[in-house]
Order: sequence, then structure tokens, then C-alpha cells
Amino acid sequence: MGKHERFRLLDLDELQEKISKLGLEIPLSDNLGLLARPVKVAEKTIPNALSVHPMEGCDGTVDGEPDELTYRRYRRFASGGAGLLWLEATAVVHEGRANPLQLYLCRKNKDAFGKLFDTIVETARAEFGSNHGVYTVVQLTHSGRYSKPEGKPAPIIATRNPYLGRNLPEDYPVIDDEQLERLEDCFVEAAVLAGEIGFDAVDIKACHGYLNSELLSAYTRDGKYGGGFENRTRFLLNIVDKIRDRLGDAIDITLRLNAYDAVPYPYGWGVDRADYRKADLSEPIKLLRMLRDRGIKMVNISCGNPYYNPHVGRPYDTGPYIPPEHPLEGVARMLNITKTIQQSVPDMVVIATGLSWLRQLSPFVAAGGIEKEWFGLAGYGRQAFAYPQFARDIVENGALDARKCCIACGKCSEIMRDGGRTGCVIRDAEVYASIYRAGREGKPPIQSNRVAEHV
Ligand SMILES: Cc1cc2nc3c(=O)[nH]c(=O)nc-3n(C[C@H](O)[C@H](O)[C@H](O)COP(=O)(O)O)c2cc1C
Repeated sequence: MGKHERFRLLDLDELQEKISKLGLEIPLSDNLGLLARPVKVAEKTIPNALSVHPMEGCDGTVDGEPDELTYRRYRRFASGGAGLLWLEATAVVHEGRANPLQLYLCRKNKDAFGKLFDTIVETARAEFGSNHGVYTVVQLTHSGRYSKPEGKPAPIIATRNPYLGRNLPEDYPVIDDEQLERLEDCFVEAAVLAGEIGFDAVDIKACHGYLNSELLSAYTRDGKYGGGFENRTRFLLNIVDKIRDRLGDAIDITLRLNAYDAVPYPYGWGVDRADYRKADLSEPIKLLRMLRDRGIKMVNISCGNPYYNPHVGRPYDTGPYIPPEHPLEGVARMLNITKTIQQSVPDMVVIATGLSWLRQLSPFVAAGGIEKEWFGLAGYGRQAFAYPQFARDIVENGALDARKCCIACGKCSEIMRDGGRTGCVIRDAEVYASIYRAGREGKPPIQSNRVAEHV
């Protein structure tokens, strides 16, 4: 394993050299035109091969409606030109919200989400014309063990997990099967609302250790949602089947799936049972083939757990600890996992994660992945916060401006942990520097007028 190093690469040659020196396999191409090509997902066309990943802003109202900063973020994303905009984690029940300002899709909030949807579609059209039909996905979630709806942890756990549940008493109650069954219906209700609003797709979020992701690794759980593969995937598959029963093909269904948790067996999914540092993708691939057979056409691949091993899913320069590897090894791991998935389900559009650390060199990896068929779309998370115009610059100028890129400093995650509304502290300092400072000083998060009215 390489030693951790901050990003210091100047150009494609240096990146190539570092890849060779570390003995990694990362696809590269300077044919950036590939990123400007439309991508077909069944009947629909995504205008280019660049996507904004779901990025929670923690900036809704206490009722879970989008608020001023939420609109601002999505206007910036929509005017940035990415063909696919994957909206952030949006709760399906209040008690499953990860923070008091997390978005919450329920009937009462439907009109507000409708306004957000219209803002996105109209902004993209105004910038790029009526041929640029941005594809929108809303990510439906229950935060499970990371639920914090009133600002204090209020975990709802599917299993007792010694790695992820260190602060919980041994007899902490586990959510029962009847409650899980009722929650399936809450996902369906939210999907119905998303369909009425006009979103192209719903994502049944299955990553990062949240409830649905935790259930995939619920080996030690008793009852119909734990133990064998069929039981552990029941929650996800039931939700998919119920949405299809209610809505037919009226809305696309997709998912953000952790292919590899990097948590030891029997508590992590997609891991080699003897050595959790290696991925074993047999179950994720089996699940994806079942989903494909149910008509699911697209999957967004992620890895790791942001609370337990954040370096796995978001390679960084500075963060809560110094990672035990070079960030490029993290990038390579995620991309190689994505490649194996794409090759196992070639008829699905697979979206790659983990490009932001590569800054202005990321388009070469994005284009390389598409050229070599490792994935169909390149997704950007932190880069979209820092540089919302990234897609436009790649497509129109064939380059990213290094001075505008994400520097993988981890400050957007720190704001979240401090309970503030998040964005890029470095490149969008006017809005987020003061929020960041207040959070670090332990001051209550700065809130908007609309939020203040409620508290
Ligand atoms: C502040 C912040 C918020 C995030 N919110 C979400 C989210 O709502 N849903 C999700 O699936 N991933 C979320 N992620 C993970 C990102 O989508 C992405 O997987 C990760 O940042 C790695 O991609 P990148 O290297 O392009 O940043 C979040 C990450 C950060 C830093």
C-alpha cells in the first residue's frame, strides 16, 4: 500500500506516472468529447455523460421543505450543465431524517418539492435550450442508525453491529419486522409523490450504512429480513416491487448501491469473508441482476461508510484521520469495483464515484472509464459543491480550471457533523466560511429566517 499524500499532480503525464508507480489500474483518455455524448437510459436520453451525485446540504426547513440555500444549490447545479442531477438524501419519514433540516418528501411538502423540480428543469432549459432535458433522480432514504431528526442521535438499528454501534448499549432495541414492512410503504408513498411531481426516477438509497444498506449486511438478524441473501435483500426488493405495482413504468427506479462496505464480515456487505479489506462482489452482482430483471436500468455505485471509514468512499487530502493508503488507491478501488459491476451487468448504465480528489485531471479518468466501458456516466460529488459549472467547462472548454476545483479538504463534511448547512467552504466562502467557523466554535448552526420561524 502507498503512503497517504496530498494531491500534487500537475498534468496527465504525472498522473500516469503516479498510477504506474503505485501499480494501479485506472483508465485514462484525453478524448474528453466522450463526456459530451448523450447517454440512453431506456426511452430517455441524458444529455451528456456527467452527473452530479447526491450531496446533502442539511439546509431544508424543519418541516423538510427545500429552503433558500437548497434552491441556490440546485440552481447552481442545473446551470452547471450536468446531464443527470441526482438529488440528495430525502427522508421518507420524519424519524428517519439524518438531521433536523434534512429534506423530507411527504404529501404536505409535495408542492415545495414541485417548486424545486420546476426550478431545476427551468434553469437547465434557460441555460442550455429545450433539447437539454436534465434527468432528475430523487434519493429516498431512511437514515437508520444515523437518524438524528431533532439534532440528537436517535438511532433506529436493523442489527447490533460492534463496528458501527460502539456507543449503543448491548440491549439497544432492533427495529422489528412489522415496522420494516410499514416502512416499505413509506418509500412507496414518497415514490408516488416523486412521480406526481415529475422526477424521472427515484433512488431507493442502499449505501453508506443507512437503514436499507445496513439490511443488506444483516447476517446476524433473526426473522424475514435477516440471515440469508433472500432475507437481507427483501426490504429493497419489496420496495421496488411495490412501487412497480402502484406506478407501473410511470417513474424509473434506480438505486445508489454500496458495492463494498469495507466493514468486517458478518457486519459488512460486499466484503471477502476472510479479509474485509478485499471486496467480494458476488452478492452485489447477484442483486443487481435481479434488479435488472425487474426493469432497473441504472445504478450508481458507492463504497464505504462516511462515519466509519470515510476515506473509502471519498478519497481526501485532509479529513478526520490520515488514511492508511494513497488517495489514488482509494480512487482505483472504487473504479475497479465499478468496472466489475459494469461488466457483470453490461446492459445497465453504471455511474462511477470517487473522481473529485483528481481535481482538474478527473475528466481524463472520466473519459477513460467511458472509453474502456468501465462505466456509463461519471458522477461528481464534492466537485459539484466547489465547482458547480464543472460539466459545462468539460463539455464546452474541454478542461477544468484548477483554481475552481474541490481540494478534498473535508470541510463540507465537518459542517455536517457540526450541524450546519453545508457547501464548499473554500470555493463558495461567501456563504459557507462563516457557517463553517461558527460550527467549529461550537456555536449553534446559522439558520435562515424561514427556519428560525419554526424554532
Ligand atoms: C457533504 C456531503 C454530503 C453528502 N450527501 C450524500 C447524500 O445525500 N447521498 C449520498 O448517497 N451520498 C452523499 N455524499 C457522498 C457523495 O455523493 C459522494 O459519493 C462522495 O463525496 C464521493 O464522491 P466525490 O469524490 O465526487 O466527492 C455526500 C458527501 C458529502 C461530502
